Amino acid sequence: MEEVIDDGAMALVNAIGMNEGVDSWQTVILLYNSALKEVGTKLEILNDEFQHVHRYNPIEHIKSRTKSPESIVKKLKKRGYESTIENMVKYVNDIAGIRVICSFTADIYRIAEMLANQSDIKVISIKDYIKSPKESGYKSYHMIVTIPIFLSDGPVETKVEIQIRTVAMDFWASLEHKINYKFEGEAPEHIKRELYECAEMVSDLDARMMSLNEEIREYAQKNEGD
Ligand code: GTP
Ligand code: MG
Repeated sequence: MEEVIDDGAMALVNAIGMNEGVDSWQTVILLYNSALKEVGTKLEILNDEFQHVHRYNPIEHIKSRTKSPESIVKKLKKRGYESTIENMVKYVNDIAGIRVICSFTADIYRIAEMLANQSDIKVISIKDYIKSPKESGYKSYHMIVTIPIFLSDGPVETKVEIQIRTVAMDFWASLEHKINYKFEGEAPEHIKRELYECAEMVSDLDARMMSLNEEIREYAQKNEGD
C-alpha cells in the first residue's frame, strides 16, 4: 500500500526525538500501546451503547497487537528502507493493529462509520476488501486512522491499523494465513482454488446469516408487547 507520510507522522517523529536508541524505541512502543488502548476503549463503548439502545452486540471480540521489532525490520527491508525509528513511524502503518470481529457484515460498516465520525479520529486510508475482495478471496474492511495521544509535551497523532471482519471472514483468513505461512506464500494451485471457493462460501454464509437475523428481529419487533 502507499506510504502515509503526513503531519501526524512528522509530529510523532519529533516527539520521539531523532536520537536513535532504547529511549526513543520505548517512547514509540508507549505511543502505539496507548493508541491501541484508546481505540480499544472507543470500540468497547460503541459496543456497550449498541447493547443499551438496540439490545444487541455488534462486536463479537477484539484482538490487538503491536508489531514485533523483527517484523517491523523485515517490512522496512522489503521496501528498501533503512531500519530507523523515523522510517518505521513514517512507513509502517500497522505497528499498532486492532482486529474487530463482528457477527454480521452490516455491523462492520456501522462500526467503521461510527469510529470515523469521532472528532479525534482521523481516517488516513480505507481499503474495502469486502466490496473488492483480494485475488486470494480475502475479505475484510481495513482502515488506517490516527488518534491523538496526549504526552506531557502535547498530543501526538498515532497511527493504528483497524481490520474489521465477520467471524466467518476471520475463520477463513486465519486458515489462509496458516496455509500461506506453511507454503511460504507458494501454496499449490488446487489449494488456492479450494480456498477461493471457501471464500465464496463465506460470503454466502454471511449473507444468509444476516438475512436470517433480520427476519428474526422483525419477528421479535412485531411480537413485542404481546
Ligand atoms: P501488508 O504489507 O501485508 O501489511 O499489506 P498492505 O500494507 O498492502 O495492506 P493490506 O491492507 O493489503 O493488508 C494488511 C493486512 O491485511 C495484512 O498484514 C494481513 O493481516 C491482512 N491481509 C491482507 N491480505 C490478506 C490475505 O490475502 N490473506 C490474509 N489471511 N490476510 C490478509
Ligand atoms: Mg500488515
